[in-house]
Amino acid sequence: MRRALIIGNWKMHKTVAQAVGFARELSAGFTARADRDVAIAPPFTALHALSAVLKDTAIALCAQDVHWELEGAFTGEVSAPMLLEAGCRYVLIGHSERRRGSGESNEDVNRKAKAALRAGLAPVICVGETLDEREAKQTFSVIRRQLKEGLNNILADDIGRAIVAYEPVWAIGTGKTATPGQAEEVHDFIRQFLERMNGTEIAAGTCILYGGSVNPDNAGSLMAQKDIDGLLVGGASLDAGSFRKIIDY
Ligand code: 13P
Repeated sequence: MRRALIIGNWKMHKTVAQAVGFARELSAGFTARADRDVAIAPPFTALHALSAVLKDTAIALCAQDVHWELEGAFTGEVSAPMLLEAGCRYVLIGHSERRRGSGESNEDVNRKAKAALRAGLAPVICVGETLDEREAKQTFSVIRRQLKEGLNNILADDIGRAIVAYEPVWAIGTGKTATPGQAEEVHDFIRQFLERMNGTEIAAGTCILYGGSVNPDNAGSLMAQKDIDGLLVGGASLDAGSFRKIIDY
């Protein structure tokens, strides 16, 4: 009953011209598939140009961050309605690189998720433990806290539109993917948490993505897991050929 979702997170890569070239290459001969959705998350600067290139394709746009206010004196920030207008359907929230690099807290994640939902965007809420936390057997307590605080007071009507992405920090950009079993264990935990929080129906319908060193060789075995509904791909999404293979897992 859940559609798969594959998002390519480009992080701080590609100029507008490079992004447009990639989008043309990826969308050539690309047809919508009934069982999966596909999106790319370019830097803010490329969103508007890409929305024109991808207009009549089955490839959607995702922003990499959002501010919780609608407008105001927030230098360097972009609001949810601005992202919607630029053509986004999704927005990443609480990526570990922002939690670590920009001190983003679970409370910030919560405010951003609410702002995204209010504007009609689907928030992709990222959670994940560090290597130290995993080795200290704190994986589940860290994820539980990130979800509890990140999803706090989001209305039941809205929560069904939220997406969760599990990205173990130790697997990001390291080439060290979580094994399908390790990833499934946490995805199952996340699904159970959502079930206790929102009931069986919403939990069963929530899309939970895995991210961290996903590549064309491991995408299929990750997607074969019961609770892995999609992939958040970093480095391997920068090349259209490699991303295409992951989409076709
Ligand atoms: P890599 O696929 O490069 O490990 O990055 C994962 C990630 O952070 C996606 O958001």
